[in-house]
Amino acid sequence: LADEIRRAETVVALTGAGISAPSGVPTFRGDDGVWEHFDEGQFTYGRFQRDPAGFWDDRVALHRDLFGEEYEPNVAHEALAELGRDGHLEAICTQNTDGLHLDAATGVGGDGDSSQSHSSTDANATGSETTVLELHGNAQRVRCQECGARTDADPIYDRAENGELPPTCDCGGIYKPDVVLFGEQLSGAAIQRAQALARESDVFLAIGSSLVVTPAASLPRTAAATGATVGIVTLEETPLDDVADVCCRRDVTDVLPRLSSLVTRDLSR
Ligand code: APR
Repeated sequence: LADEIRRAETVVALTGAGISAPSGVPTFRGDDGVWEHFDEGQFTYGRFQRDPAGFWDDRVALHRDLFGEEYEPNVAHEALAELGRDGHLEAICTQNTDGLHLDAATGVGGDGDSSQSHSSTDANATGSETTVLELHGNAQRVRCQECGARTDADPIYDRAENGELPPTCDCGGIYKPDVVLFGEQLSGAAIQRAQALARESDVFLAIGSSLVVTPAASLPRTAAATGATVGIVTLEETPLDDVADVCCRRDVTDVLPRLSSLVTRDLSR
């Protein structure tokens, strides 16, 4: 895979909860996954629209469970950032809402438009940039459903925890976590951008995702259909293993630093 990446014109990565698991962020499925402790049905877009107060009341507990502590990027995030700095990674399409790719790439938290394509540029020696697409948005922010204003999520969760259900914007609009909820359409821009990247890619890496949630889970198939070499790195099987050229059943913290150092090592030595 390292040679393919070094030779590739366009390398794209799709990441899921598994890349942040070593940082301590809970994953969603598998033993002790988030959906073992919380009912997905309480967090659908339909419920948010029907019963915003009840949605927010339940959401506080989920947010505290998922993001109750400050997380740091781990060596797998850093390895992808290093590939980007060396001009070997066109884009990271992440399903994660923890913002850790942005922290690893730029050393600062994310900002700007969520669930749209959010690009943090990681300028590097060859001048190319790595785009970070937050397909499912960013849980560190909330967004007003009326005026669209975005603000930091933590103070709003505090207000909800103190009984402001649902928390509202100064304009009177209801805040929504700035993430894509089950049953909510991903913004067209984000998924179209991700599908275009998958089609353009010569190498497509699916890292730390169970690949069961669409439309993200369709991207490796799109990439394979247009001739890309597909690599999957997860601890368990995925429904797209038959699509992959390479399946690594290894920990991201083992595989990615090795892959990055093989690709970026100075060949002139
Ligand atoms: N190294 C490699 N793979 C890992 C590691 C690790 N250290 N830890 C976990 N994994 C793998 C698991 O084997 C699993 O395949 O990461 C995957 C995590 O799968 P999920 O928990 O389903 O996470 P994800 O695929 O990101 O879920 C997609 O579902 O609930 C929604 O919106 C939510 O974005 C999320 C989406």
